[in-house]
Amino acid sequence: MTLQAKPNSIEARDIRSVIHGGTNLKRHLERGPLVIDRGEGVWVTDIHGKRYIEGMSGLWCVSLGYGQERLVTAAAEQMRKLPYYHLIDHRGHSPVVELAEKLLEIAPVPMARVWFSNSGSEGNDCAARFAWYFWNAERKPQKRKFISHNRAYHGNTIAAASLTGSPRNQEFFNLPLDGFLHVRCPHFYREGLPGETEEQFSSRLVAEIEELILKEEPDTIAAFFVEPVMGAGGVVVPPLSYFAKLQPLLKKYDILLVSDEVVTGFGRLGDMFGATTMKLVPDMIICAKALSSAYLPISALMVNQRVFDAVARQSDEAGVFGLTLTYSGHPVSAALARETIRIYEEMDVTARVRHLEPKFQDGLRKLADHPLVGEVRGQGLIAGVELVRDKATRAPFDRAMAVGRRCRDHAEQRGLLVRAIGDTITLCPPLVISEAEIDELLARLKQALDDTMAELDISAAPALARQ
Ligand SMILES: Cc1ncc(COP(=O)(O)O)c(C=O)c1O
Repeated sequence: MTLQAKPNSIEARDIRSVIHGGTNLKRHLERGPLVIDRGEGVWVTDIHGKRYIEGMSGLWCVSLGYGQERLVTAAAEQMRKLPYYHLIDHRGHSPVVELAEKLLEIAPVPMARVWFSNSGSEGNDCAARFAWYFWNAERKPQKRKFISHNRAYHGNTIAAASLTGSPRNQEFFNLPLDGFLHVRCPHFYREGLPGETEEQFSSRLVAEIEELILKEEPDTIAAFFVEPVMGAGGVVVPPLSYFAKLQPLLKKYDILLVSDEVVTGFGRLGDMFGATTMKLVPDMIICAKALSSAYLPISALMVNQRVFDAVARQSDEAGVFGLTLTYSGHPVSAALARETIRIYEEMDVTARVRHLEPKFQDGLRKLADHPLVGEVRGQGLIAGVELVRDKATRAPFDRAMAVGRRCRDHAEQRGLLVRAIGDTITLCPPLVISEAEIDELLARLKQALDDTMAELDISAAPALARQ
């Protein structure tokens, strides 16, 4: 980068002023940012005029792509009419009612009420708060521990980061908090034993969970948090048999099931909610991101009748439900989210994803023949392509080689934005992507893999030989 040559460029000013999450802050001082200027459909353009296919919907969120005028209008109209009101102390407004009603109507299982916050992390934090409040109401205050998966991503506020199963969000932050337990990631390719079937794998994992529950004592476990398909852990699709075996176990020990649909909600897997795809019957559901196609921050936590009744009873005893957020159900975000769902319904988003799924998933699976690719996995319009040093043994590359990051950078050069989660390249394009754009995305990804391969042949050969 030529940042030194242009001290007043936006990149140089960024370096001098902004802290970027999920970034090596020291490296950022040399490398600087890729500054995106504008977007249209599935395309974004940087400040130098280069165009990219947005292969990740931003951060798994801009499901309707860029330039949706109806969303701009819905927000502007609400902003003019009533830009803010709160929900504290029996106050309310129409946009939040209309959104809550719609969410309850389309919920994958019967839900009773909706609590709003501003992000997926807050949604997960609030779900933990609801679970604690619920068990206090049930006179089981000792039920306060949570279980989630290694490699799960539930967000980055303190409880959400504790639920998250990734050291990078916890190390040096004094997390996870006590009482946040993690179990094996249901990723058959990485965690399956030689000769084991998927069914046996699921049984083994659920047996391990039962062992943990018994060791911790069932009466201390409040809830189990799952993502129907894990996103930021590298796109992991758990076997259906895993959830089929897990749910009766949770019932047996009266442990709440919380489905984090922050990525999977609103058509991503081919159903309106991932709970339908993965046959989950959760007590609480969190959605965010695609709820507003990320045009404004908002998240929703749906709770079932059992949870709501107990929480309402407890709040009556306490005199107040003491959970408040200034922006809970913000009217502009709510109006925009309501319009977002209207668009999903008009475009028949689930039919669209199912129609595009074979082109996208089969196209990616053709890349499984590439010498760098160990596994291609995904569902609907979300996928992960895991790069490995040895296809036969599934041996990963030495982390120091940063093969995933190199591939992501090559994709960027080729005009495709993807993420590298370790050595897994993740894809989650806007649901408005066309068939021709999927072809273009696949072609650019293939080029990026070839570029990475060519680069490794030259610069990484000694590292490969050392292993
Ligand atoms: C499954 C899941 N849950 C929660 C979150 C956190 O959402 P946010 O970044 O809006 O706080 C994310 C973010 O990527 C996510 O993927």
